[in-house]
Amino acid sequence: MASSASLYSPSYLVLLFTFVAWFAALVDAGNFNQDVDISWGDGRGKILNNGQLLTLSLDKNSGSGFQSKKEFLFGKIDTQIKLVPGNSAGTVTAYYLSSQGPAHDEVDFEFLGNLSGDPYVLHTNVFSQGKGNREVQFYLWFDPTKDFHTYSILWNPNHIVLSVDGIPIREFKNLEATNGVAYPKKQPMRLYASLWDAEDWATRGGRVKTDWSQAPFTASFGSFNADGCAGNDGACNSKGWMNQEMGSGGMSRLRWVQENYMIYNYCSDVQRFPQGLPRECSVN
Ligand SMILES: *[C@@H]1O[C@H](CO)[C@@H](O)[C@H](O)[C@H]1NC(C)=O
Repeated sequence: MASSASLYSPSYLVLLFTFVAWFAALVDAGNFNQDVDISWGDGRGKILNNGQLLTLSLDKNSGSGFQSKKEFLFGKIDTQIKLVPGNSAGTVTAYYLSSQGPAHDEVDFEFLGNLSGDPYVLHTNVFSQGKGNREVQFYLWFDPTKDFHTYSILWNPNHIVLSVDGIPIREFKNLEATNGVAYPKKQPMRLYASLWDAEDWATRGGRVKTDWSQAPFTASFGSFNADGCAGNDGACNSKGWMNQEMGSGGMSRLRWVQENYMIYNYCSDVQRFPQGLPRECSVN
């Protein structure tokens, strides 16, 4: 009796739950071999460590990229990325969701490289029904080339939230009902990532060019986790993130990022929109 009672002792249960949680996390963590295809780059994209790491490289002849096997209609995607170290001027590491066809939807993270020691720019955009022009740019509060950091896209029927290490940096709300601004909610999107050269505009507006003597440039992707659903199959409804809202904690962190690290916001660019700022700017 004594030994079976100890099976239910608190410390045993703690150990059991720890093990179950650890195992669930392990199973849940994505595997690049199962989840993505290297879509271009002729061998410059590589899946390593049994699917736990993916590297993209860029040289004078080509960049490289991968795409998710699945398409999502709503999802929560967390990916760890370590950006090109050293002199990455002219390079762009892109990580985005996109649908196909002319009136496409798209949600972008693009990391614009820089000279050693100068800050990367995180450039973001949201397209709905083919309409973009919604650029918001940030500096990061850490060196994104030293370690992996988690870059996330939450996409549910209420909003799209871009986060860095769990800190929301940008929110695009579904305002269709109130002001008619199209919101991505009908077209499935696939996840894409790529490393390519954009020396004509990426760094200081194109004034700093790529130093090809530093090639090949390499960006690394780790612990990819895409929890999505394909819509209308009911599977979405059981997902906690489907109803997730920003909350006051999220709002204050978002404000912290926007006050301290935002360097460009299309919603403040009155010169660019002499006819008036886009409608969503009064709320987003
Ligand atoms: C590169 O560094 C310069 C100087 O600090 C900065 O003005 C610029 O925003 C940085 N990023 C890019 C992508 O140009």
